[in-house]
Amino acid sequence: MDLIKDIDIISAEEAQACDFKTTVDENTGKSKRLYIESYGCQMNFSDSEIVASIMKENGFDTTSDFEQADVIFLNTCSIREKAEQTVRKRLSQFNQVKKNKPELTIGVLGCMAERLKENLLQEEKIVDVVVGPDAYRDLPNLVSAAEDGQKGVNTFLSREETYADIAPVRLNSNGVTAFISIMRGCDNMCSFCVVPFTRGRERSRAPHSIVAEALDLFERGYREVTLLGQNVDSYKWSPEENNKARLNKKEGEVSEVVNFAHLLEMVAKVSPLLRVRFSTSHPKDITDEVLYTMRKYDNICKYIHLPVQSGNSRVLELMNRTYDREWYLDRVAAIRRILGDECGISSDMIAGFCTETEEEHQDTLTLMDIVKYDFSYMFFYSERPGTLAAKKFEDDIPLEIKKRRLAEIIEKQNSLSYERNQLDLGQEQLILIEGTAKKSDQQLKGRNSANKVVIIPADRAKKGDYVKVRITDVSQATLFGEVLEVNPALA
Ligand code: SAH
Ligand code: SF4
Ligand code: F3S
Repeated sequence: MDLIKDIDIISAEEAQACDFKTTVDENTGKSKRLYIESYGCQMNFSDSEIVASIMKENGFDTTSDFEQADVIFLNTCSIREKAEQTVRKRLSQFNQVKKNKPELTIGVLGCMAERLKENLLQEEKIVDVVVGPDAYRDLPNLVSAAEDGQKGVNTFLSREETYADIAPVRLNSNGVTAFISIMRGCDNMCSFCVVPFTRGRERSRAPHSIVAEALDLFERGYREVTLLGQNVDSYKWSPEENNKARLNKKEGEVSEVVNFAHLLEMVAKVSPLLRVRFSTSHPKDITDEVLYTMRKYDNICKYIHLPVQSGNSRVLELMNRTYDREWYLDRVAAIRRILGDECGISSDMIAGFCTETEEEHQDTLTLMDIVKYDFSYMFFYSERPGTLAAKKFEDDIPLEIKKRRLAEIIEKQNSLSYERNQLDLGQEQLILIEGTAKKSDQQLKGRNSANKVVIIPADRAKKGDYVKVRITDVSQATLFGEVLEVNPALA
């Protein structure tokens, strides 16, 4: 059975839509082997790179083959019930592996570890260590205790941990695009969402460490970074707020508050040849200042993931999203005013939230028609234990109705994606080549500023090149282009 998949993940949300991502084969002469399978969002994938780095310091190279591993980690997601079921199934598949190799250490990391804590040890007998997202520095201790037969749990949530000093080991990297975590946690308390419970309080990472990471990536040949956070627009950092940072302050370091617009600008200035993306933007927080900063720099990609969840104000209130339909549409109007029609906009949608009526569901469809999203990640509501919605509201929409509403949302999005892509026909666009196309090695795959995949013939360009193309054909999911110029002057 093909259990190991090499999944090409390009955005946080795509990551949520796919199964899992594994570690690669490293051989730097370490004595032990670590295999990590990562589920969920890009934050988790990014965390796995930190975990690999911590374990590397402690004698582990990564492997893509769990049968070769001394330690197996599953970095897990709790966002919907199905995500947790997938991990449970996977653990039962590892039962046999552990039977054949009793000295194997199995760890559950990430959001499911944080949510279920020591219960996981009781419920899943093969698990040796359970470690939450803020406790990864403790992994080497817990693993060595497990090697001596002692199971362990650390789900301490921190107000400060950002792993800023840990250089991530880039896993499954294409060598062109990379993710940089700029903050952790979430303070928003959307009523459906488990993330504030599994990831703790929001905290921002020091800007100089973010810029240094971007510069290091650029010098190593990377050409695009995506700044990651659950809510990047609430990024906020000042030395005064962070005691440790104040004590470690370097000479000449700025001490004013750095907001997300400032940070974007700092990263954009690393090089005009380094593209900058970011995800996720919360509609309540995205400011005109951020939009103007995007406009000012050609290398900040014109693409915003702005999840709306529902198009109806009453439902949005129950979801505790703290904006209504009008506010959201005003933010979209600001994007169009400042960045024009070319800016890509995508969303997340939840169908069948508690008490949602048919008319309220229609409001989601009409909002989609107004915004004309390029893309959406669409789900039906899945009640999560411990969330505000689980405590306050009944999950009262029958599954068939949730699924039917979701199907209508998906159908609407499919036709909007095609409609939006058709506008690109005949246009000249700049794309960054990420590698060979999946379907044919005679073709290359790149991405335009608006985050759309563009396929071109492979004869003139290579991975890491910027290519000016003309769009000659489009489908619902992909654009096709002809090469006009390879590596045009951008500076
Ligand atoms: N921080 C991001 C979202 C992270 S979770 C934001 O605020 O936009 C990614 C998406 O999963 C959410 O946008 C939402 O659409 C979906 N989601 C979260 N909890 C869910 C639940 N209980 N049921 C169904 N979908 C959910
Ligand atoms: Fe969850 Fe809302 Fe935070 Fe996004 S902003 S992670 S949906 S609580
Ligand atoms: Fe991400 Fe899933 Fe946790 S979406 S933050 S891994 S619950």
